[in-house]
Amino acid sequence: MTYYPLEKLHQLYDGYQRAFRVQGLELLLIQDQQRTYLIENRCPHMDAPLTYASIRDGVIRCPMHGIEFNLDSGQGRAPGCLQPLKSYTPVYEGNTIGIVI
Ligand code: FES
Repeated sequence: MTYYPLEKLHQLYDGYQRAFRVQGLELLLIQDQQRTYLIENRCPHMDAPLTYASIRDGVIRCPMHGIEFNLDSGQGRAPGCLQPLKSYTPVYEGNTIGIVI
């Protein structure tokens, strides 16, 4: 297992949203309402990247077809919906946030 730092903590703010590629993983680091989320940068509907998705009140809205997903549960808000968003546990080390894989 290796720690890969993604961002310095002082760079995070509400509205922060940045894509990363680490060891072949497409990731999206988000801060919303003072909570930090690390999710796979791929919509479960049709695999669109979520890099430019809109995020508000703990909900991310895919720019491709507009399906919304709850960032806490990962569940989509569509009838018979899909797989949930895939999320990863952010790891804090020193003054950075990252991922262990
Ligand atoms: S690809 Fe995201 S809603 Fe369709």
